[in-house]
Amino acid sequence: MEFEEVVRARRSVRAFRSDPVPPETIRALLDIARRAPSGTNIQPWKVHVVAGATRARLEREVLAHRETRPADGVAEFPRMGKRKEPYLSRMRALGKDMYGRIGIPRGDEAASWRQWGRNYSFFDAPVGLIFTIDKDLDAMSYADVGMFMQTLMLAARDRGLDTCAQGA
Ligand SMILES: Cc1cc2nc3c(=O)[nH]c(=O)nc-3n(C[C@H](O)[C@H](O)[C@H](O)COP(=O)(O)O)c2cc1C
Repeated sequence: MEFEEVVRARRSVRAFRSDPVPPETIRALLDIARRAPSGTNIQPWKVHVVAGATRARLEREVLAHRETRPADGVAEFPRMGKRKEPYLSRMRALGKDMYGRIGIPRGDEAASWRQWGRNYSFFDAPVGLIFTIDKDLDAMSYADVGMFMQTLMLAARDRGLDTCAQGA
């Protein structure tokens, strides 16, 4: 595809076929993503790739942990403080679009909980990529990892593979 076509074609996909993705394809995607720029060229990205039995076990364990309703707000990376405009309205608009489209009305806590849980099944994608970063690094390195991720997602789209970035 032409570059602009790839950029326009990438979108967050939340339903996948189970066809396995060959390990060499994942390696090729990681190899192209590492061309991303990074401040002072420290290339701080670290990626854990899960597929097959490992992916299935991770999904099981994370979903089981979620059932214990673990305390929120213990993320090991900086999160948004008090939600404010204009971001709040944009978040609400996304929630309405996404959940409304699949018939979950605002306020249906049980259905929303279930649907959000699909994040932890990687929306059935056969491969999960978990991006981590050294705790001692700062915001600049988060930007580096973001660029790495976007490069990878565009390269995936170029090979006919869809993705969904997840903060969940
Ligand atoms: C850093 C980041 C975190 C995200 N976290 C989630 C997530 O946890 N779950 C989800 O379904 N989508 C998540 N998304 C996808 C966004 O909702 C999506 O990128 C946005 O709505 C724009 O839609 P598009 O990707 O189709 O262009 C995330 C995207 C980014 C960049």
